[in-house]
Amino acid sequence: MNEMKKAAITLNVNNETHDIVAYPNRTLLEVLRDDLHLTGTKESCGEGVCGSCTVLVDGTPVRSCLTLAIAVQGKEITTIEGLSVGEKLHPVQEAFVNHHAIQCGFCSPGMILTSYALLAENPNPTEKEIRRAISGNVCRCTGYAKIVEAVKSLTEEGK
Ligand code: FES
Ligand code: FES
Repeated sequence: MNEMKKAAITLNVNNETHDIVAYPNRTLLEVLRDDLHLTGTKESCGEGVCGSCTVLVDGTPVRSCLTLAIAVQGKEITTIEGLSVGEKLHPVQEAFVNHHAIQCGFCSPGMILTSYALLAENPNPTEKEIRRAISGNVCRCTGYAKIVEAVKSLTEEGK
């Protein structure tokens, strides 16, 4: 029988290099949570539908449950733990807190990273553009209005 062998994998997560040994079929989500203990990234559906596992790869939101860890070597991976500086929350995180855009919090890491990526690419998104950007991130609690408000508050118009 041809058994799968573990491979040496080097990942750059939140500006730190991590060397691990893992099976090549391990997802980025599994490695982040189980090997690196970065449990801010959430697992919900596990099949690419809900967006709760969203992280940034070279600044682009990706679903870490559908991404193989081995495939993102050499890329910059950002998880929710990488946004704050020490105890200081990132302005996108602060806006979510201040606008009550977090209830159970399960969607929040993915939602915040998706919003962060949107604002990095387009600092003044319209409501329609915000809604389109977060359409792949499911929230079962907030009804989305508070999330849109939080993102809007970070635009030129909202300041
Ligand atoms: Fe990855 Fe739902 S856990 S999309
Ligand atoms: Fe509960 Fe969004 S705050 S799923």
